Amino acid sequence: MTPPNAAPPPVEDNRIGTADFWQLPAEERDVVFAELRRERPLSRHPAPEDMLGIGERDDRPFWALVRHEDIRRVSRDPQTFCSGQGVMFGDAPPEMLEASLSFLAMDAPRHTSLRKLVSAAFSPRQVARIEEGIRANARVVVEEAAQAGGGGDFVELIAKRLPLMTISEMVGVPEADRERVVEAADVLVTALDEDSWSDVPPLQKLGEALWTLTETSTALAAERAARPRDDLMTALVQAEVDGERLTHAEIAAFFVLLAVAGNDTTRHTTSHAMRALTTNPDQRALLLDDLDGRLPTAVEEFVRWATPVLTFRRTTTRPVELHGVEIPAGEKVLLFYHSGNRDERAFERPWTFDVTRDPNHHLGFGGGGPHYCLGSSLARTQLRALFGELLRTLPTLEVGEPALFRTPGFIHAVKRMECVW
Ligand code: HEM
Repeated sequence: MTPPNAAPPPVEDNRIGTADFWQLPAEERDVVFAELRRERPLSRHPAPEDMLGIGERDDRPFWALVRHEDIRRVSRDPQTFCSGQGVMFGDAPPEMLEASLSFLAMDAPRHTSLRKLVSAAFSPRQVARIEEGIRANARVVVEEAAQAGGGGDFVELIAKRLPLMTISEMVGVPEADRERVVEAADVLVTALDEDSWSDVPPLQKLGEALWTLTETSTALAAERAARPRDDLMTALVQAEVDGERLTHAEIAAFFVLLAVAGNDTTRHTTSHAMRALTTNPDQRALLLDDLDGRLPTAVEEFVRWATPVLTFRRTTTRPVELHGVEIPAGEKVLLFYHSGNRDERAFERPWTFDVTRDPNHHLGFGGGGPHYCLGSSLARTQLRALFGELLRTLPTLEVGEPALFRTPGFIHAVKRMECVW
């Protein structure tokens, strides 16, 4: 045990801060995380590589938390582990973070006020009201895919479409802008991927995507200010926080957060879950046996299995002791959700995909606390609707090996995945 006020232990290894490490398949990465969970539940690592080529960067080491109970504890103690000093694993220019993270990277009281503005639209009650519409859209997605032939890229044909429709309808994005919005949102999480490499450096690509989203948001905000409708953008332009209207920049950051959080996460969960149902035919058969009865439980396993958000970060606001070591104030603490979701202490047979797993206290939506995923009810409803339609209409659908995006330590993202039925 480190005596109080002693210097923090030296950095231990540099594996998990490298781009190469995040290229490995999840199972291989987990060999390292399993070792950390077992032997060094709190460890210290050099700052992640400067993958975006920012030049000036935050080179402070970070602490890694890999066990389920530690991630829960930290998520639920925002006074000690704050979000206002950044939540991302890798570095990015501050102005880009400012323009894209909104209240995800804020603390109370501002976080509380901004989250409250939109939270009604995402409550389980409100989501239940729009469930019929989500199911109708799921039917359209599956029927159109079925009519298109006997297969293709699962991501384009199926996984991408329902989240795009759902979030666009909620926010009020016009049809003509939807594809552009989702493409720009994709760039924000995949700019580092080799497939996206071109003459344009990643940093510039990120800037262009942010500009597209900001412009779309500003035009939509102006339109709703003039002609209000029953959608989230109207609620945002009419809202007042502490007696003041939100600025265009604040509304745009909100828009970017919803575009990324609402699209990528649910899409990648869909793809990883379809792959798991393909490689575990017994689990698919079990689900098909009682689809309506088993889907709610299965969806929790889909999210645990996929863990589409790999990490978020906190910063210590005061010295705090964890596993007998004192972490000083101002240190970066990384929460490795996928490791928590494979923690042998929290789950029996964590590497078994089990659609009947119950209870299933996974960390896919975060570890609880004030930042717990605002869209969790919406995501669950979409996944139930889509897999209900999909497995009923195309019960023989199978997918191949997924090609993954290179998104070091952030989103567990499927680029392409062939399917046949
Ligand atoms: C399977 C799908 C999804 C997963 C796995 C997921 C995961 C997460 C995670 C891990 C967090 C951070 C939790 C924390 O820091 O404690 C988060 C926050 C958030 N999510 Fe989701 N998410 C999903 C779907 C959605 C959807 C559909 C939306 C709707 C637009 C959404 C909106 C948000 C927002 C706005 C936040 C920030 C909350 C805050 O800071 O108060 N998410 N999500």
